[in-house]
Amino acid sequence: MTNMRVAILGLGAVGEDLARTLHGAGFPIHCLISRRKHAARALAKEVDAQFVVSYGDELPDGIELLFLCVPDDAISRVSKELSDHSYPWHTVYVSHTSGALLSAELGALAARGAKVFSFHPVQTFAKGQESEWKGIYVGIEGAESGVHVGQRIAVSLGSIPLLLNEEDKVLYHASAVFASNFFVTVIGIATDILGQINVSRADAVQLLAPLIQRTCQNIVESGPELALTGPASRGDVQTIERHAEALGNSVPDKYNIYLELTRAAIELKRRNNPEFEEKATLMAQEIKKLLRE
Ligand SMILES: NC(=O)c1ccc[n+]([C@@H]2O[C@H](COP(=O)([O-])OP(=O)(O)OC[C@H]3O[C@@H](n4cnc5c(N)ncnc54)[C@H](OP(=O)(O)O)[C@@H]3O)[C@@H](O)[C@H]2O)c1
Repeated sequence: MTNMRVAILGLGAVGEDLARTLHGAGFPIHCLISRRKHAARALAKEVDAQFVVSYGDELPDGIELLFLCVPDDAISRVSKELSDHSYPWHTVYVSHTSGALLSAELGALAARGAKVFSFHPVQTFAKGQESEWKGIYVGIEGAESGVHVGQRIAVSLGSIPLLLNEEDKVLYHASAVFASNFFVTVIGIATDILGQINVSRADAVQLLAPLIQRTCQNIVESGPELALTGPASRGDVQTIERHAEALGNSVPDKYNIYLELTRAAIELKRRNNPEFEEKATLMAQEIKKLLRE
């Protein structure tokens, strides 16, 4: 498996990291394909890539596994453009790394004989920051031959392959958006609110860091139900009303977000807590009254 010659198209946050990780796992990086040849050359040195190709140029012979690491909206078009190249596509496995999209986005290449699959690491990647592949799940979907290769690649990287049905993939990805993107967004809101009382952005992150770290640890160790603390979990309605009023005065665009998240927190607390049922119903009614149109 690790002798498959790999090409990576799109050297953004995921493409760069995947190139380094595959190289580290022993895969020969055959070719890097980028719209920025200069930047690609620097990475090529690091991962011993044989070829660096500008996007749109002819591809070198010998690619066995091609990853399209481009934005979701570009996958179908890039697939179509590649399929116009005269290349022995029937000898190539092609994958994209989108969490929301299916391997069907690669339909133009599949029509030329490529064996396609989607390969989505459940991890966050930011340009210039190294990410961990060991121990993470990789959602894999596609036709049998592609999926089989996808599973073996994931295992070679120390990841855990997770087979996904076509119909489940979007919801699976929506869950990841809540766990990562919205989590970050909520912390962004928390730092903005501290900005209202003149805590600098850098200090705000430091101030919140122990809370964030301990909360994450509790979630991972005990699950979200037991990790939940705070006014919604305690049933402190007056505190919730005070928060809502203060937010309504200072950061009114966060008023409804606060109340919607409080509603979700009440639902979380309600789970497996029959003694909280009555209180939860009253709190939910109160929140419904406070929510603004
Ligand atoms: N970032 C994450 O945390 C994460 C996690 C899991 C999965 N994903 C998925 O991985 C894929 C790539 O995401 P990313 O975060 O790495 O994106 P990104 O940082 O924006 O990088 C995408 C790269 O694709 C190339 N590109 C951009 N627009 C293009 C176009 N119109 N035509 C051809 N190439 C284009 C560019 O590379 P060049 O400049 O080298 O041409 C760009 O750097 C997406 O499908 C995303 O959903 C992302």
